[in-house]
Amino acid sequence: MEKIKKDVEKIWKTSISAIETLENLEDIKKFHSTNLGKNSDLSAILRNISKLTISERKEIGQFANKVKENISNNLKQQEEKLRQTLYDKEDSETIDTTISGYKLNTGKTLSIGSIHPISAMIKLIEDTFAVYGFEIAEGPEIETDWFCFQALNIPIGHPARDMQDTFYIKEDELLPRTHTSSVQIRTMQNNAPPIRIIAPGKVYRNENSDSRHSFMFHQFEGLVIDDKSNLKDLSNILQGALKRIFDNENIRLRIRNSYFPFTEPSIEIDCSCIFCDMKGCKICSNKGWLELLGAGMVHPQVLRNVNIDPNKYQGFAFGTGIERLVMIKDRVDDTRLFYENDIRFLSQFRNI
Ligand code: DAH
Repeated sequence: MEKIKKDVEKIWKTSISAIETLENLEDIKKFHSTNLGKNSDLSAILRNISKLTISERKEIGQFANKVKENISNNLKQQEEKLRQTLYDKEDSETIDTTISGYKLNTGKTLSIGSIHPISAMIKLIEDTFAVYGFEIAEGPEIETDWFCFQALNIPIGHPARDMQDTFYIKEDELLPRTHTSSVQIRTMQNNAPPIRIIAPGKVYRNENSDSRHSFMFHQFEGLVIDDKSNLKDLSNILQGALKRIFDNENIRLRIRNSYFPFTEPSIEIDCSCIFCDMKGCKICSNKGWLELLGAGMVHPQVLRNVNIDPNKYQGFAFGTGIERLVMIKDRVDDTRLFYENDIRFLSQFRNI
C-alpha cells in the first residue's frame, strides 16, 4: 500500500514539473493522452490494486483521483498560459498583407499592376454621369450600315461618311463601328423615353497611325430623351461632369456652332484650358480653350427612324474621344502610347 502511494506521489511530482516545460498546444495534447489516459502509468497502478483491502483500495483510489485531478488542472493552466502568449504575440505582430510577393528563385519583388489609363477614364466617366442619373449602355463593335450611319441621318453617299471611313467587312453591310453614336439608335429602338444613357466603347476608322490618330480608339456617347431636355440642361450637366472628370472647379464651357447630320442644332463644346486658366499656353495653342465634344439636339428624323414621335419627345446627344480626355488630363502627347503595353508608360498611372 505504501509503495503504491509512493509511486503515485512520484508520478504526481514528475508530472507537475514536466507540465511546466511543455511549450506548445501539441505537447499538451500528447501529455494528456500519455499521462492521464487509459494507457498511462497512473491507470496501470490503479488496475493493480486488487491485492489490497477494500478500505486500502478506497484510500488509494481517492488519492489517485485527486492526483489525477490536480495534474489535469495544472495541465489546463499551462494550456491557458500558452494560449495567452500566442494571443499576445498575434497582437504585437503586425503583418502587412499589402507587401508584394517575390518572384520565384530571384529574390526580386513582384511589381504591382495598375488599371490601364483608358479603363480608368471610362470608369471615371461612368461614375460621374451616374451622379446625374445616366445608365450605362453597350452596343456591338461590328455594326450594320443602318445603325452606324443611315439611322443617324447619314444616308448612303452622304458626304459626312468621308470623315468616318472604316473597314468594311462585307460590302455595304457589316462594318466596325466608326463612332459610339450607333448605341443611341440601339437604345432608342429598345427603350421608351425617358432615356438617359452613357455608352463608352471602342470605335474603328481607316486612319494612319500618328501621335493623334489610331485605327482603333475609344469614345463615349451620351443621350437624353424625354419631353423637355434642352441644350441648357446639357451645358449644366457637362459643366458639373467635366469639373469632376478633370478634377478642376474652375472649368468654363464655350459653345460653338457645328454640324452633325444627327443633331439639329449641332454644337461643339470647348472647355477653358485646365492648365493655364485661359491665359494661353502650349497645350491650348495659346487659345485658352480646349476642344472637347460634339453635341446637339437629336434630329427629329433620327427620332422618327426609331419610331419616337418628335412632336412628343426631344433630347440631346453628345460624344467624344476618351483618349483625348486622358491626353488632356494627364498631358500625354502621343496616342500610340496607350496601345504599346510599355510598363514605363503604364506604371505612371498607378494612383488613378
Ligand atoms: N459621333 C461623333 C463623332 O464620332 C461625335 C458626336 C457628335 C456624337 C455630336 C454626338 C453628337 O452624340 O451629338 O465624331
